[in-house]
Amino acid sequence: MSTLVTGATGQVGRRVLTELRRRGLPAAGASRDGEVRLDWTDTGSWNHALEGVESLFVTVPMASGLAERAGAFMERAVEKGVGTAVLVTAMGAESGPPDSEQRVLERRIRELFDQWTVVRPNWLDQDFTEGLFARIARSRRGRLELPLSKRAEVSFVDAKDVTDTVVAALTDKRHHEHEYTLTGPNPVSFRDVVRMTKGTESPVWRYKKVDEAGFYFRATNMGWSDRYVDTLNERFRAIADGKAARVTDDVRRALDRDPVPMAKFIRESVL
Ligand SMILES: NC(=O)c1ccc[n+]([C@@H]2O[C@H](COP(=O)([O-])OP(=O)(O)OC[C@H]3O[C@@H](n4cnc5c(N)ncnc54)[C@H](OP(=O)(O)O)[C@@H]3O)[C@@H](O)[C@H]2O)c1
Repeated sequence: MSTLVTGATGQVGRRVLTELRRRGLPAAGASRDGEVRLDWTDTGSWNHALEGVESLFVTVPMASGLAERAGAFMERAVEKGVGTAVLVTAMGAESGPPDSEQRVLERRIRELFDQWTVVRPNWLDQDFTEGLFARIARSRRGRLELPLSKRAEVSFVDAKDVTDTVVAALTDKRHHEHEYTLTGPNPVSFRDVVRMTKGTESPVWRYKKVDEAGFYFRATNMGWSDRYVDTLNERFRAIADGKAARVTDDVRRALDRDPVPMAKFIRESVL
């Protein structure tokens, strides 16, 4: 019996799968392109993906319109005897509109599973090296262009802390029926990050504030959907309002250790 890791080719899922295996635990990675083929939109792929599965890690791409499908998949998982599920959404998901994709998923996991955990990370440190911010900067010769002041602060969290929390929740019942909002140890501004990356191989090494219309233009040029860009703009507004600078104690609560500081992440990943 093993753990099925969905979104296994994404930033979080890939790390969860690697960490489970590093600990010698049986796990399979699922996505449209993964070792186990799973497409949220193709119910015909679900039963095979759930064969021999005991616990489930669920991650659904942001603003993809796939939450209802993923909810139906979780229902199928329960019918097939899966008892434990861990879901990743995002910091602040619990205060979004009741019909928002992430709130729908959070509600479903709590309703369906006896052993559930919800993990809500803030923006990841890794967004600067492999995620959204890196992608934007790579298309602008190293300049990250966002509709935010360079002084805007975020308590960025290391994907390692997210991964360790997810794996703890999958393997230790003390985390069941818990919700964790994961942040780094302190708020860091975009200007701080650019300073920290000076002289490194970081994809992001400059920063410029653009207005929302300018950001929208660049984002649609990159092929992103309106729904995705609207969701990003909502999350940027939350940063501008100071909501993403909040620091929680939840990495310590879950893992009994301090979160990784951004400076350490940069030292170890791009120096
Ligand atoms: N990055 C951040 O800063 C951040 C912060 C907080 C929360 N989060 C949340 O964390 C979660 C994971 O983020 P991430 O950055 O790891 O995601 P990601 O890199 O965007 O990966 C998405 C994963 O979903 C899979 N996928 C896409 N469409 C699919 C479909 N139709 N059926 C099955 N699988 C599909 C992709 O694999 P295939 O293409 O192979 O199918 C990929 O493995 C998201 O819910 C996000 O909102 C992210």
